[in-house]
Amino acid sequence: MNVKELLSLRGKITLVTGGAGNYGKCIVEGLAEADGTVIIASRNMDNVKDVVSRFCEKGFDVHAMQVDQGDHESVLSLKKAIIDQFGRLDVFVNNAVARPMKGYDDPMENFAKSMEINATGAMDILREMASLIEQGGGGSIINIASMMGMFGPDLSNYKGTSMGNPPPDYFFHRAGLINLTRYLARIYAGKNIRVNSISPGGLFNNQPERFVENYSQKVPVGRMANNDDIKGIIVLLASEAGAYINGENILMDGGMYA
Ligand SMILES: NC(=O)c1ccc[n+]([C@@H]2O[C@H](COP(=O)([O-])OP(=O)(O)OC[C@H]3O[C@@H](n4cnc5c(N)ncnc54)[C@H](O)[C@@H]3O)[C@@H](O)[C@H]2O)c1
Repeated sequence: MNVKELLSLRGKITLVTGGAGNYGKCIVEGLAEADGTVIIASRNMDNVKDVVSRFCEKGFDVHAMQVDQGDHESVLSLKKAIIDQFGRLDVFVNNAVARPMKGYDDPMENFAKSMEINATGAMDILREMASLIEQGGGGSIINIASMMGMFGPDLSNYKGTSMGNPPPDYFFHRAGLINLTRYLARIYAGKNIRVNSISPGGLFNNQPERFVENYSQKVPVGRMANNDDIKGIIVLLASEAGAYINGENILMDGGMYA
């Protein structure tokens, strides 16, 4: 098969949770530019509708659906809505993340709230969407983890800023998601479902200048990630071009941990 055909997502129904967020919008754009049909699922429909109409103005086939991944009934409603509107699902990008914990000393209730959405909720939506993909004959699942799920925090990045230390729940659930990826790749063996994760580095989002400076000088590429950096890996893993990549975690950090 020609490589352009291998990378094409034409005719594929793809779902991105948290698709109106920072990395989410880049992922949606990549899938849509590769000719996929993209469903953005998020808690807040007002935010999503704005993002969807901007993508539709560019001629992309992008749709909005509601989900709260911390609520099992809501996950089941999303599944039903996908079946009713599209009849199947080919690609699931598990990208949503909740950040209820702000620092190391936060109350444990915030840690528990984080686990409810980022651990239990993530497992729930992964299992439900995988069953949808299985019913349709197979496809690809991509978990968006983080380099913070692979390494401890580099606290010197925050020196001279008022950003504070990053919260511990994030390191816990991103690391869990990476190994859950390997687990699921085994569980779905023989069912034509591949499961991979991407561990991105920090996306530039107008962070304080000092932070961007501290961070960028440690990256061989010399900068934070931009809006295009994740698109190629997403399309590779989502498409037939990635047919022999399974159970893998791809670190996308500009060489920071080389
Ligand atoms: N931004 C970065 O620099 C960075 C770096 C590495 C990895 N990541 C990863 O990228 C992914 C997206 O992160 P981001 O920074 O773009 O986050 P973000 O906060 O911009 O977006 C997260 C999205 O998740 C949604 N969400 C939160 N709780 C939800 C729930 N209960 N149900 C459904 N949706 C819910 C939010 O509404 C939001 O749209 C995450 O997996 C994160 O770990 C981000």
